[in-house]
Amino acid sequence: MKHITLPGNDIVDLKDPDSAFPSDRFIQRVFSTREQKFLLQSNPWLLWAAKESFYKALRRTASVPFSPVLFEVKELGSTRGTIVYEKFFAEFQIHENAEWIHVWITTHPRDIVCSAELGPDNSTARDIALGRLSHWYPREQIRIEREALAGSPPLLTLSGIPMAELLSLSHHGRFGACQISRNLTAR
Ligand SMILES: CC(C)(COP(=O)(O)OP(=O)(O)OC[C@H]1O[C@@H](n2cnc3c(N)ncnc32)[C@H](O)[C@@H]1OP(=O)(O)O)[C@@H](O)C(=O)NCCC(=O)NCCS
Repeated sequence: MKHITLPGNDIVDLKDPDSAFPSDRFIQRVFSTREQKFLLQSNPWLLWAAKESFYKALRRTASVPFSPVLFEVKELGSTRGTIVYEKFFAEFQIHENAEWIHVWITTHPRDIVCSAELGPDNSTARDIALGRLSHWYPREQIRIEREALAGSPPLLTLSGIPMAELLSLSHHGRFGACQISRNLTAR
């Protein structure tokens, strides 16, 4: 199995109408038998967020089809878990409260993970990421690009040159979140 330590994160606004408990049909279609046992103790959107996070991480390195049931949560604790897709696996971390669930793939401990309520000024997950990156670089030189193909991970550039940092973005309902990885040598 290949251990993936690339960034991928997903936030779920628990008060959003989308976050109602899903139908039995959805559960049967999206969650394996093993995962359905976790639903006795966990919110289904937590499992979903783990799948989306791993999908976002894996898409940086492999061509991954659009098939949620193939991303299987194997272990689930209150703050972490593990997930498998074919020959790839990852650990993930969980931050859950009454308002939101945030899941992210475990990367280097010094990488940045943040989540925030989006401001009345219509700030976005991109603004949250830019705010963090501007601690290290001049903000006006940083761009978050989307690559030519739709459905690609965001790409960070500094004065037009791709940066070593890897960024994952997520937004749902009232909240936005990001994960920024700096340590490429460990991969
Ligand atoms: C890409 C995808 C995961 C986005 O998730 P989402 O919950 O709809 O939306 P989020 O706000 O959490 O994430 C959106 C961000 O993901 C990022 N993203 C988009 N495509 C991506 C990809 N292929 N790889 C990594 N990140 C990607 C983008 O930064 C995007 O934000 P932006 O449009 O502002 O740049 C989703 O739209 C998708 O295509 N899913 C495929 C379904 C699937 O098989 N999922 C895996 C198992 S459930």
